[in-house]
Amino acid sequence: MSTTFQLDTSTSRAHPTPQPMRRLTVPKIRSRKVDGVTAEPLVMLTAYTARQAQLLDAHCDLLLVGDSLGQVIYGLPSTIPVTLDMMANHAAAVVRGSYHAVVVVDMPFGSYEASPQHAFESAAYLLKQSGAAAVKLEGGEAMAETVEFLIQRGIPVMGHIGLTPQAVNVLGGYAARGRSDAEAAKITRDAKALDEAGAFAIVVEGVVEPIAIDVTRSVACPTIGIGASAQCDGQVLVTEDMLGMFERVPRFVKRYEEIAGFIEKAAATYAKEVRSRQFPSEDQTYQPKD
Ligand code: KIV
Repeated sequence: MSTTFQLDTSTSRAHPTPQPMRRLTVPKIRSRKVDGVTAEPLVMLTAYTARQAQLLDAHCDLLLVGDSLGQVIYGLPSTIPVTLDMMANHAAAVVRGSYHAVVVVDMPFGSYEASPQHAFESAAYLLKQSGAAAVKLEGGEAMAETVEFLIQRGIPVMGHIGLTPQAVNVLGGYAARGRSDAEAAKITRDAKALDEAGAFAIVVEGVVEPIAIDVTRSVACPTIGIGASAQCDGQVLVTEDMLGMFERVPRFVKRYEEIAGFIEKAAATYAKEVRSRQFPSEDQTYQPKD
């Protein structure tokens, strides 16, 4: 079975529809962890565009439209300036480009912290505009009431604890969390609070490994690690990081390719051929019919 599809530009849908694939659901993801055991770890990658989603979809259980798009796509200094409409537009593209994975969309900074009601309005807007199945939000104990409020009103929520990039101004940087006893205890309390509130999964980012393992054992829902531990119930990476699009990446990123080099090489060859009038050649030009 082919795992990639053409984008039909007249309908913006992937074509042909991959028949054997049915989209996974949030309850299916949640139920992959049974009595504390996840036999097959969950696979999640970030996606921001329709074509990227098409290429990743068949290989992933979840596609995350992360607010990391602020830095990765828009060249912003952090995730703080990312808006609800940026998230909604990219999430809609990812939904159009995928058929199999559960699409989760990040709630951007400022769209959910003030009150559960505000969070509901923002989350409902994101899901209505995009067709995504769930939202992700950062924070533990402080967000538990909001998480419960959203779930009771039909919005599945993925939590995000440990290193929470939207809190960079409070944390003072992106260093790993959980090195002190107090920090470690807080991370475990955060995980338990989200689990009890009904989060269907929790991203555990940038925490020392024993804490990630402890958190994974302490909660009923799956944990998804990034800079955490192979013992988490799943893993996530920013796709551009693991593809080698950037020179500098955090130490927890494994680079599976070095595509920046391919792009630069192709651009250099193109520029040379344009300047020497080698491109376009006969193959790429239209001639009058005889
Ligand atoms: O925004 C993002 O890409 C994320 C992942 C790093 C988990 O939240």
